[in-house]
Amino acid sequence: MTNQLNEMNKVMLQFSDKTMQEVQRIINFYPEGKQKSALIPVLHLAQQEFGGWLSTETMDYVASLLNLSPIEVYEVATFYSMYNLKPVGKYMFEVCQTGPCMINGSDEIVQYIYDKLGIKPGETTADGMFTLKTVECLGACGYAPMMQLGKNYKEHLTKEKIDAIVESCKSLQAQKN
Ligand code: FES
Repeated sequence: MTNQLNEMNKVMLQFSDKTMQEVQRIINFYPEGKQKSALIPVLHLAQQEFGGWLSTETMDYVASLLNLSPIEVYEVATFYSMYNLKPVGKYMFEVCQTGPCMINGSDEIVQYIYDKLGIKPGETTADGMFTLKTVECLGACGYAPMMQLGKNYKEHLTKEKIDAIVESCKSLQAQKN
């Protein structure tokens, strides 16, 4: 039965026409036979379109589109922290833990988020609102400690700033609901 469901999932998984056009546009950047070069942007599109994370079925679908073996896709998807391999919350705190951020207190920030929201790195709150991740250098070392939230950087983090960020996420979500 599970196998049947998995097969159904595979068949049903498909990019929208609009996204498919974008996938084709990206593939066309590269010479014939070099479609693997399109993998990273296509995985971004897949993550965006299929619920914010990459399931095995999603990665297999991308492999089939780019004519790659599934393992080639898994290798890339598991290497980069920007890809989520399990469902994530609506707001993801990606706290940098590399040297300059660590020296400036990223461990305390991670601990504070745990104290406040009850989630460790890799975990999501029960209400599906927040996910905590630790990542490597995000190239904003001069603003340490810092984290990425969606497309924005939150810099010179303090406990007070975390409080304010959590509150603003909650009120943003309340407006959307
Ligand atoms: S070490 Fe944190 S942004 Fe570079």
